[in-house]
Amino acid sequence: MTQLDGHLTADQVAEPVPGVPTSSSTTPVTVVGMLEALDVEDGHTALEIGTGTGYSTALMCHRLGEDNVTTIEVDPGVAARADAALEAAGYSTWTVTGDGLLGHPRRAPYDRVIATCAVRRIPHTWVRQTEPGGTILTTLAPGFWAYGTGLAKVTVHDDGTAEGRIIGESSFMQARSQAVEPLAGDLSARTAYADSEREAKVEPTLLEEWMPAFLAQLAAPGAQLVRAAQGDGTQRLYVFDADRESFAAFTENGSGWTTRQGGPVALWDDIERTLIAWQDADRPGISAMRLRVTPSSHTYWIDGRPALRWEHRLG
Ligand SMILES: C[S@@+](CC[C@H](N)C(=O)[O-])C[C@H]1O[C@@H](n2cnc3c(N)ncnc32)[C@H](O)[C@@H]1O
Repeated sequence: MTQLDGHLTADQVAEPVPGVPTSSSTTPVTVVGMLEALDVEDGHTALEIGTGTGYSTALMCHRLGEDNVTTIEVDPGVAARADAALEAAGYSTWTVTGDGLLGHPRRAPYDRVIATCAVRRIPHTWVRQTEPGGTILTTLAPGFWAYGTGLAKVTVHDDGTAEGRIIGESSFMQARSQAVEPLAGDLSARTAYADSEREAKVEPTLLEEWMPAFLAQLAAPGAQLVRAAQGDGTQRLYVFDADRESFAAFTENGSGWTTRQGGPVALWDDIERTLIAWQDADRPGISAMRLRVTPSSHTYWIDGRPALRWEHRLG
């Protein structure tokens, strides 16, 4: 971690402090793995979103040349430190301070776009700023869970669409302007009125696994998983969609789990249906997930499995 809560850096504190990570140096093995997946060739231009320390930027400058790399960092302090570090390493590259979700049109089009922060959907600006035939590589967190997120690699077509797949698991901090606030407040007030109560057909603890969590975000994009310890030491699980005022609450009943659902959307019905379809399909891994991006939609699917297909439309 190199920054907490959008301002605190290590040089300002003498001992460990709590806080929300807002910038970090990505593990080198992750950076190199992503750069390999990016498939760059001599002469390519690249746009990076999330400069952070500048480490991944430096590797790209080394490979492509400093003039072929543009990097955007939203946090002015982080950007200034990265710029100085890159200069010290001998790279006078294009470091831009701003919201990377807008890309950087002045130097577009790029052959490669790579994000080292997670986005809920691939911004259309990135597609517009990528050369047809070029690649966008980014972590997608359709519901912005901290896990259950995938590394998307798509090729841009000249009709303004992009297509590819999720190539593996990937976890990055959320792009700031899209970040979702963690759920706060009185859980018992949120779950006071249930419309139905039944036995869960699938254990909700399955959502603690990566691929089921990814699928749950596709089936119920606004939902968050919340765990709460009870007074007697047992855990209670919840799925909440705060915007849609809906919840599912789970309690262990000895032989399985009872679910109470309330609000306009039966969240667990949607997620459970998806998890059953996934189990029936022999539990494919995240890299079976295909993705097509248009200016107004993201469609995710697994080939040959109509029950595992979602079209998320803008608005
Ligand atoms: C995990 S760090 C990047 C690490 C970097 N690749 C490295 O090697 O050190 C993610 C960075 O993305 C930045 N970020 C978050 N949202 C952003 C946005 N909308 N535009 C540009 N940068 C953003 C954060 O400030 C943070 O510095």
